[in-house]
Amino acid sequence: MILITGGAGYIGSHINKLLFKKERETVVFDNLSTGHRELAKWGHLEVGDLGKVTEIENVFKKYPIESVIHFAASKAVGESVENPEKYYYNNVVNTLNLLAVMKKQGVKKIVFSSSAATFGDPQYNPIDEKHPQNPINPYGYTKLVMEKMLEDYVKAYDFRYAALRYFNAAGADPDGEVGEWPGSGQNLIPLVLDAAIGVREEIKIFGTDYPTADGTCVRDYIHVSDLATAHVLALDYLDKESGCFNLGNGQGSSVKEVVAMAKRVTGVDFKVTESARRPGDPAILIADSSKAEKVLGWKPKYNELATIIKTAWDWRKKLA
Ligand code: UFG
Repeated sequence: MILITGGAGYIGSHINKLLFKKERETVVFDNLSTGHRELAKWGHLEVGDLGKVTEIENVFKKYPIESVIHFAASKAVGESVENPEKYYYNNVVNTLNLLAVMKKQGVKKIVFSSSAATFGDPQYNPIDEKHPQNPINPYGYTKLVMEKMLEDYVKAYDFRYAALRYFNAAGADPDGEVGEWPGSGQNLIPLVLDAAIGVREEIKIFGTDYPTADGTCVRDYIHVSDLATAHVLALDYLDKESGCFNLGNGQGSSVKEVVAMAKRVTGVDFKVTESARRPGDPAILIADSSKAEKVLGWKPKYNELATIIKTAWDWRKKLA
């Protein structure tokens, strides 16, 4: 059985669905602080908190857990600057709690959800696994510390990990069964869709003077179902080895391109205004995922921006 911490959240719910389809048994462990019971549709659900060691231990005693996919964490960059304590507790301390229980119970395999935020300001693009990791905010630091903890566990104990560094996760399950809960974040695509559906008056473009083709920031949007596939491949990889993988499409879309595509997909001409840069945004972030392709055999399927936005839009309309 596979334990999915944070399995009632956006990305975790998609992995849970894929594992179910592959007839792998799962148990979701989630405190439902940002997750939703409605998204934990497959396998078992245990409501509990990684801050409470006994609650983690109880789950390991109740189910025959063989490996863990660890999503439960706080993920808002801006909030991490204002309240770093929350991030060091929720991300670093809680991951250590989980690892300590895994070690005690003899569970040796973990797939960890890391982030492009561990790289900080890119020195070059596309970003491969050799790129230096210099985070520029507490969120990125916590993800890097978590990677280092896993690396040290592997060196010291009989343990294996795969850290998957997502670039910009986006889109929703093409069957419309799970997706990102509306109103739960500050990311571009959900906000744009809020504007299209009418719960948001306008969308602000943060900065139009970047050194990019149209002056707006370029990001690598990767479909959440493609991320799900990478986790399943990583689980198999753990039977042999440990390692880190950057996950993206390898192609960038600018903020203006995302906005224009969203207008096309939704058919709504929502209001757009140009405003100042948001602090801490690098101009371009694009993944080099050739290691994941070569080592895991991973190849994104939903790499058209139109498909990514369409699946998110279908889900958004369903929940409206
Ligand atoms: N943007 C706007 N207007 C908005 C919201 C966003 O113009 O209302 C712009 C941002 O300035 C940025 C781009 O859209 O240029 C994408 O912004 P997101 O907030 O959607 O995503 P980020 O690239 O900032 O963040 C993502 C993940 C983080 C991760 C970070 C760095 O959401 O978890 O990449 O890797 F830390």
